[in-house]
Amino acid sequence: MSVCVRRADEGDLPFLTAAEARLFPASPWSGSALAGHLAAPHTLSLLISEDDRPVGYLLAGFSPPEGELYRIAVLPEARRRGYGRTLLDELFREAENREVSSFWLEVRESNLAAGALYRAAGFDTVSRRENYYRDPREAALVMTARRPKE
Ligand SMILES: CC(C)(COP(=O)(O)OP(=O)(O)OC[C@H]1O[C@@H](n2cnc3c(N)ncnc32)[C@H](O)[C@@H]1OP(=O)(O)O)[C@@H](O)C(=O)NCCC(=O)NCCS
Repeated sequence: MSVCVRRADEGDLPFLTAAEARLFPASPWSGSALAGHLAAPHTLSLLISEDDRPVGYLLAGFSPPEGELYRIAVLPEARRRGYGRTLLDELFREAENREVSSFWLEVRESNLAAGALYRAAGFDTVSRRENYYRDPREAALVMTARRPKE
């Protein structure tokens, strides 16, 4: 099986829109929000594919010296194959060229898989925002990572 990571573009909107609806049914990014992100400067949109079939993506924004991770997702049938980590590693590599040295993200407290992925990639929890999410109402953990590590 060949695995490839590349920049997402407009041609990937059908996949991204369907994946958002499937994986984030309570708060999917709309097609126009995704198109806006793809077209915006200072953003990164990555797609990971298995044998040319997209199985995951990452959406991030850069505001040097900080970067923010907005979305990372892998289709359920392709999880635990290292793709989430591969996408994060590519984000960190991109950041080096953009003078970004610290990353932020928010994650639902109950999202154990994402929390484990982020910790394994070097993120630490720095604060907790009570009642940050709706549907269901839940706290957010705010996590940060430095690249290169100090
Ligand atoms: C979070 C998510 C992106 C992880 O993707 P993935 O490709 O399965 O992750 P990886 O295979 O790269 O995992 C890397 C490491 O993260 C940790 N990890 C990932 N999923 C885990 C799980 N379900 N339970 C425990 N640890 C987990 C492990 O340390 C893992 O290393 P290992 O497999 O060698 O033990 C995926 O579960 C997902 O798409 N979830 C739904 C969308 C989501 O919640 N996104 C985050 C908010 S935007």
